[in-house]
Amino acid sequence: MIEDRIKNRQAKIGVIGLGYVGLPLAVHFARNGYEVLGFDIKRERVNLVNQGKSYIRDAKQSELNRLVKLKKISATGDYNRVPECDVIQICVPTPVNINKEPDVSYIVGTTEEISKRLRKGQLIILKSTTFPKTTESVMLPILERSGLHIGKDFFLAFSPERIDPGNKEFTLENTPTVVGGVTSRCTKLAVLLYKNADSNVISVRSPAVAELTKLIENTFRNVNIALMNELAQLCERMHINIWEAIDAASTKPFGFMPFYPGPGVGGHCIPIDPYYLSWKAREYDFHTSFIELSAKVNEDMPYYIAKKVVESLSKAGVCPSKARVLVLGVTFKKDVSDLRDSPALKIIEILEEKVGKVLYNDPYIENIVVHNLHYTSVSLVSYMVDESPRSHQVSSRVDESPRSHQKTDVLRNIDCVLIATDHSAYDYKKIVKNTKLVIDARNATKSVPDGLKGGSIVKLGC
Ligand SMILES: NC(=O)c1ccc[n+]([C@@H]2O[C@H](COP(=O)([O-])OP(=O)(O)OC[C@H]3O[C@@H](n4cnc5c(N)ncnc54)[C@H](O)[C@@H]3O)[C@@H](O)[C@H]2O)c1
Repeated sequence: MIEDRIKNRQAKIGVIGLGYVGLPLAVHFARNGYEVLGFDIKRERVNLVNQGKSYIRDAKQSELNRLVKLKKISATGDYNRVPECDVIQICVPTPVNINKEPDVSYIVGTTEEISKRLRKGQLIILKSTTFPKTTESVMLPILERSGLHIGKDFFLAFSPERIDPGNKEFTLENTPTVVGGVTSRCTKLAVLLYKNADSNVISVRSPAVAELTKLIENTFRNVNIALMNELAQLCERMHINIWEAIDAASTKPFGFMPFYPGPGVGGHCIPIDPYYLSWKAREYDFHTSFIELSAKVNEDMPYYIAKKVVESLSKAGVCPSKARVLVLGVTFKKDVSDLRDSPALKIIEILEEKVGKVLYNDPYIENIVVHNLHYTSVSLVSYMVDESPRSHQVSSRVDESPRSHQKTDVLRNIDCVLIATDHSAYDYKKIVKNTKLVIDARNATKSVPDGLKGGSIVKLGC
């Protein structure tokens, strides 16, 4: 019985897709005593896992290595090993296409592979973020092609992954798990599984409720960031400091949760997930105006920041078309190495047409390609708080480790520094002191005392 195998930790756990979500999940289950078999189509990732080498910060190298040596984790690219697993958790990408429509082809492809090999007693759980009803309307019919019966022969549930990569305070260990199964037995089995893996579990009535839970969380974030981005623009007109106002509002012990303006939103979740909901809503003749409005505001931000750079250069008496602009931080948020949908890349693309030369520095990212142009991170080693930001490293690629750069004072020849991502590794006081013009899109210079200023600081939302 699968119940007993889960309870006794004899169940073998398959994890399909060993990325930001899948690899830490595999480590989590192995840590909790289960044998885990990871699947990935990238041979390089499979090989690294089997060597005990981590390429995702949230899966600690030493722990992965230990668990691989104990034979608690191994990886494969061979779907023929699906029948070995009692439980299969699917963590494949769910992007949007160029028209911002959901692309669930990874889910469909993976489900088809499982369906061909489905055996009695298996529990399948989708973790990838997707629109409501994917589990029941897209996955279930494919799995039923196997001839097996849901709730009797095999079990299917949705459980959203809620981790925030790089967040040290809230991890898989202390973030509750939401679960919704197709039948009550599906839900019970999924609840049993996550409880046995030491999670606080919340069960909901259906996979659709669990799917919507995840979309509500990320849409809520997207909408509130958009609100702050709009208010930041108002504050600039009114010459009021929004950052100070948000800090003051945050002192209210109830009814307020701080969100901050910035150069836009990025990563694999916030800019993408709301589109899954708005796309599905249209099928019901419903237009999700909050989602559309926040997408508009957030997607305008890189253009707004680029315009601010150009206008500030002109105001400072520098001809934009001859100016050298250095963008600090290109990842989508601080202290991670994830470039996906980063607004900094969009800003670089826009600035490339408007200023003389665009350069960048990021302690996590050595090279980038924006609109077919190749850039290499310039040396800023003497402007780092910690000269070796390896302690902040998160790699999405194997060779992504931040390099130590040669010592040259690049700031001397720079007309404007744009702080696009506020990595903790930067010494902002020193940067401000040695730069003629700083555009701060993240309030990174908040602790720089007025007397220290070299040139001027232009801050978003002030
Ligand atoms: N990154 C996050 O912060 C985060 C947080 C919560 C939820 N999610 C959701 O989790 C899902 C996965 O996101 P991610 O960030 O881990 O993506 P990722 O790109 O980091 O990892 C996905 C992995 O799946 C592999 N893969 C793709 N197709 C496959 C297939 N057919 N078979 C086996 N492996 C395959 C890829 O090679 C890759 O290693 C998405 O739906 C995402 O929205 C992501």
